[in-house]
Amino acid sequence: MKNKIKRHSLIEIIEHWIIAFSGIVLLFTGLGCLPLYKRYYITEIPGFGWTADFYNVTIVHYVASVVFVSAVIFHIFYHGLRRDFALLPKRGDISKSIKVIGAMIGLGKEPPSEKYLPEQRIAYVGIGFIIILLTVTGIIKVLKNLEWIVLSPLAESINTLIHTLSGFIFIFAFIIHVGTVLLFRSNWPLLKSMLTGYIDEEYVKHRHSLWYEEIKKN
Ligand code: HEM
Repeated sequence: MKNKIKRHSLIEIIEHWIIAFSGIVLLFTGLGCLPLYKRYYITEIPGFGWTADFYNVTIVHYVASVVFVSAVIFHIFYHGLRRDFALLPKRGDISKSIKVIGAMIGLGKEPPSEKYLPEQRIAYVGIGFIIILLTVTGIIKVLKNLEWIVLSPLAESINTLIHTLSGFIFIFAFIIHVGTVLLFRSNWPLLKSMLTGYIDEEYVKHRHSLWYEEIKKN
């Protein structure tokens, strides 16, 4: 493709959107398990009547968690085995992130970036940590429902508390992630690349100049 650079492979795109879609379903059904929807009349909205039944909401939460956790495990092995570590933080990422965020709101100049912006690398580790907490505590919650695995009431409460709290942090991280993509015009080409795999060469030259130099060298 002329004047375009490949940013994401089809596998990465499918992986991202499976995680995103199942993640949204998990957030929605997770809140439904609390349960919240009857109290706030969500169950009255046409098409949402099924959320009134705890059993329905839990089944959808279970199915989405199998899809989500499978995609996360795939992500770890696929990128780990390919030694694809562009999203892992580097020294100096915190101070560079402050400059990138400042530049997004018109303060100062953005420092040159690799394939990912420094704040994307920090966000990746943060969201990864929350996902691992959610997954481990979620699996413990499933296991303790089996009759031959018994947890003490204290261990069960602590596990549930960590699952619920990390769920709320996940909602917060999700809002920041989607918000930074949608609210800042400078990030829109990244959204296009997460849909098509390609990004404009001019954009890479300016925003990801260190990545651009590397591509040209190879
Ligand atoms: C639970 C839901 C989601 C999770 C866990 C998730 C996670 C991630 C991760 C880990 C990355 C790579 C690192 C980063 O840019 O921070 C990424 C990239 C991206 N995400 Fe999401 N995401 C989710 C939902 C969404 C949604 C709904 C959108 C739509 C606005 C979106 C748009 C993007 C874009 C545009 C990128 C590409 C950034 C680039 O090419 O540099 N994500 N996502």
